[in-house]
Amino acid sequence: MADFVRVATAGELPDPGSTVVEVDGELIALFHVEGAYYALDDVCTHDGGPLGSGEIVGHKVACSRHGAKFDIRTGAALSMPAVRATRAHEVKVEAGEVWVRLRSGHGADGPVAQAPVAKPATGFPIAPPAAAALSSTGGAVTAPSATAAGALCEDGVRELLKQVKDPELFVNIVDLGLIYGVSLAPSAEIPGKQQVSVDMTMTSPACPAGPQLIGDTKRALAAHPDVAGVEVRIVMDPPWTPDRMTDDARDQLGIF
Ligand code: FES
Repeated sequence: MADFVRVATAGELPDPGSTVVEVDGELIALFHVEGAYYALDDVCTHDGGPLGSGEIVGHKVACSRHGAKFDIRTGAALSMPAVRATRAHEVKVEAGEVWVRLRSGHGADGPVAQAPVAKPATGFPIAPPAAAALSSTGGAVTAPSATAAGALCEDGVRELLKQVKDPELFVNIVDLGLIYGVSLAPSAEIPGKQQVSVDMTMTSPACPAGPQLIGDTKRALAAHPDVAGVEVRIVMDPPWTPDRMTDDARDQLGIF
């Protein structure tokens, strides 16, 4: 078992306050909240963002990159996009000094307890979407019905894209705010059909769901009878932030 390591003088940190210290070669976020000290890995389990510089509200800290919240006392993930706890470490205060001992292993509490409830997409403006939404594993897609009136438009594309759900967050990519732009142009190769281009971002540059989301997006649009081809461009500037989500998405993720 690791030894306790002195990391700070008690009273050095404001209350509430935090700092980042090094313990046995690891970066640890040290928190001072309501008279007590707590230590977590300085690593957000969503995509490695720092926690020691995050906003503290009560016993919660928000990752400064995409806003996931963690319980300062236990490391538990409290809100999306993080779904796993970060490690919490032992802390003691002796003779006016703060000491931390690292715990091994992973965060203790696993996934966020509240599973988000997916809501069906509504208000399809051109033709109702296929009965089955895209599976998170990129399964087969049933083509939506042929349009009854007019050609596919930008709003129709966005409705089709609501079939595509982030496999970690279980919220569709439109409500998550991942779609930065949609454009349509007459196909040069297939008269009467359209070429669709989608500018899409990810919740983080290293988002592991990226290839799946791109594939699901292409399949969702290519299944429409008006579509001749689909191009998906990944755009990371400006970076995605939680305030791009719709109220529906916030509701599903339990973010208030
Ligand atoms: S890295 Fe922390 S919420 Fe994304």
